[in-house]
Formats: sequence, structure tokens, C-alpha cells
Amino acid sequence: MTLQTHARFVTLEGGEGAGKSTVLSALREFLLARRFEVVSTREPGGTPLAEQIRGLLLDTHHEPPAAETELLLMFAARAQHVREVILPALKRGAWVISDRFTDSSYAYQGAGRGLQAGFIAELERRVVGIAPAMTLLLDIGVANGRERTRGRNLAGNGPDRIEREHDHFFERVREGFLARAQAEPQRFRIVDATQSVDEVAAQAVAHLRALAGA
Ligand code: TYD
Repeated sequence: MTLQTHARFVTLEGGEGAGKSTVLSALREFLLARRFEVVSTREPGGTPLAEQIRGLLLDTHHEPPAAETELLLMFAARAQHVREVILPALKRGAWVISDRFTDSSYAYQGAGRGLQAGFIAELERRVVGIAPAMTLLLDIGVANGRERTRGRNLAGNGPDRIEREHDHFFERVREGFLARAQAEPQRFRIVDATQSVDEVAAQAVAHLRALAGA
């Protein structure tokens, strides 16, 4: 592997409704309380241009993108995000916590849409080049996760394009994440996201504490 692992780079992954935003704020609070600089960000997005690409990806007002288009747009956004936000922050010694990163492309576009892992790995090497020291996988069954996003969607704008996929798509995504976690046990921490949000956040913080040695 030619990816460079960064000690202060942490990513959150998981299916819909796994509680990533609550965990993200808990991790952020933990680091801020220890007087670290923290950059919390998300994918697809994280820069003005990448957020525009996110809009293209999640919008339903044009024809659905081909799987390859979807993958390349994810990586176009990520290329910008890495260069504009993530690397500069890591270089000045900040912690970076990203809500989703390259593992999502392997899970959604790879396992979910059926694109080859080797193609994704090639893009990862050429376009991204970096890897997090720790990835928290918030794992939850598809029906359970859906139940949680339903509540959120009723309150907000309704499901985005990817959230409208069928359960079997999300089953493949979940299996894709779990397979990646199994292949790289030193990087992944799997957190059972069926627990209460407080419990999930507490476990995520415990993993961060161990990583930070703080
Ligand atoms: P978001 O609203 O952030 O979803 P969630 O709250 O579940 O994190 O939307 C991001 C969507 O984009 C989500 O459905 C996962 C998908 N995605 C990919 O398909 N591939 C990727 O590489 C990334 C980063 C996200």
C-alpha cells in the first residue's frame, strides 16, 4: 500500500441512521477540551466546490448518474477536500475528523453498485494518497437504521437520491463496510450502533482516547 496514514486523522463510517453526527460532536468536544485544534468535516463535501459536487450527487432533479459517474464525482469531491482542507489541517498539527471518507466509496459504489474494488483502489492511490489512523464503523442493521432516518426525513426535506435506494442495496453496503473492517482490523473499530446514542458516543470517545493517549 502506498497510502500515507496520518496519526491525527479519524473517519466515521456506517449506513444511514447510525448516529454519525452525534458521535462527531462528542469526538470534537473531547479533543477541544484537551485544547487540540479540531477540524470536523464531511464527505462528499467539505469545501465550497466539493459541496457543489455533493449537490449534484444527491439531487434528484436530473437523470440518475451512472455508477461510474457517481464514483468519479465522489473522488472529484474528495480530491479537492484532501488538498484544500484535510492535508493543510494535518500539516499544522490539527486533528481531522471526517464524517465519511474513502471507505464509503468502497461500500456504496463498490459493494453497493458493483464497481470493481481494484478500480477504486487505483483512484484512492492516485487521487487521495492518505488514510486515517482510525476508522469508527457505526454498524446497524438496515431496517433499524432506516427506521431512524425516517424520523429525520419526516422532519426535514425527505430522502436524498441515495437514501431512496432499496434495502438490498443497503444490505450490500453494510456487508461491504464489515468486509473492509475485517480486512483491516488494526485501523477499524466497530461500534454497535443499535445501542443508545449516548452509549455509541461514549464508546467512540473511548476509542479516540486510546488513540490520542489522552
Ligand atoms: P449524507 O446525507 O451525508 O448521508 P449520511 O447522513 O448517511 O452520512 O449523504 C451522503 C451520502 O453519500 C450517503 O448516502 C453515502 C453516500 N456516499 C457514497 O455513496 N460514496 C462516498 O464515497 C461517500 C463519501 C458518500
